[in-house]
Amino acid sequence: MEVKNKYVVIKHHIEDAPKESNFEIKTVDFTLSVESGSDDIIVKNLYISIDPYQISRMKSHSSSQGAISFALPITPGEPIDGAVIGKVVASGNAKFHKDDLVLGVFSWAEYSLVKEGNILRKIESSEFPLSYYLGVLGFNGLSAYAGFFELCKPVKGEKVFVSAASGAVGNLVGQYAKLLGCYVVGCAGSQKKVALLKEKLGFDDAFNYKEEKDLNSTLKRYFPDGIDVYFDNVGGEMLEAAIVNMKTFGRVAVCGVISEYTNTGMRASPNMLDVVYKRISIKGFLAADFLNVFEDFFIKTLDYIRSGKLKVIEDVSPAVESIPSAFVGLFRGDNIGKKIINLEQE
Ligand SMILES: NC(=O)c1ccc[n+]([C@@H]2O[C@H](COP(=O)([O-])OP(=O)(O)OC[C@H]3O[C@@H](n4cnc5c(N)ncnc54)[C@H](OP(=O)(O)O)[C@@H]3O)[C@@H](O)[C@H]2O)c1
Repeated sequence: MEVKNKYVVIKHHIEDAPKESNFEIKTVDFTLSVESGSDDIIVKNLYISIDPYQISRMKSHSSSQGAISFALPITPGEPIDGAVIGKVVASGNAKFHKDDLVLGVFSWAEYSLVKEGNILRKIESSEFPLSYYLGVLGFNGLSAYAGFFELCKPVKGEKVFVSAASGAVGNLVGQYAKLLGCYVVGCAGSQKKVALLKEKLGFDDAFNYKEEKDLNSTLKRYFPDGIDVYFDNVGGEMLEAAIVNMKTFGRVAVCGVISEYTNTGMRASPNMLDVVYKRISIKGFLAADFLNVFEDFFIKTLDYIRSGKLKVIEDVSPAVESIPSAFVGLFRGDNIGKKIINLEQE
């Protein structure tokens, strides 16, 4: 059977803040069967993860592009791949059968033609919505869990600061920190997000960084005795201000630097004298470095969700056509929680 398959491409490299007009939706004839003897697998995409790291792949050059396989450059006009959950429609590979649910690196499209190597895992059954496997139970959850517990080695009662705190990773870091018994403050880009952090997610406090004139004194106000752990999602001026306010032997986990992705003029220059004399640890990481703790993360997080101790915040849009605005929206602060495209009804 032949269908029309819609997919998203970039028209050209994107060097600064992305715009919807940088993208194009293409349509191609697509066969929903595999040739005999082929080991191809055809997947109907159900949920597509929308993630900020893709912007570095869309640039003509970024130091991230050679670092790890999932960060390889995206060629204008060619399909874009990313984390997707789909259902097998047809398979020439004996390990995968029609209707299997699979999570892998597939196209930003309605259907994907994939090889076994693109599939990270099968999802055998789920008591939760499938989309959770892209966020709270997937790489966002692992980033929050491993970055916080493995890198920062937090202790109950410590003071924790999280940036982009209402986002996919940030909201989970804050919730894990509260579950451990830390004092947690988050920053986010709107009053609505601030209210969510304080009223729904149990953060001790939160502020809208866009309304603050001097981030050093803002952090001093929220942490008069200093910060033990800073979970950095944004880099730039917030990282500089956090370093000024870190306690002696404070730990900074650098998960991402989103304020720098679309602004080549913005690079954090933290006070390194503070780093030396306060003996601050600053460490970058990738979730992929922590597959050894995946099982531990997964079991604990499932329990927290089941018991209602951890809230799941998703921001869902329908249809392939909404992928450009969903992606661009990450850099405007449009999303609250994990940004997902739901194609289940398509
Ligand atoms: N190391 C890893 O393995 C790993 C894995 C996943 C994600 N990450 C990184 O973690 C960070 C968060 O990713 P996510 O998937 O959870 O995305 P997200 O936080 O759900 O979405 C991005 C959010 O970043 C904030 N933002 C956008 N531009 C900003 C700017 N110029 N300054 C400050 N905040 C800005 C916006 O919220 P506001 O309204 O609050 O501005 C936006 O909603 C990103 O830096 C990402 O690259 C790293």
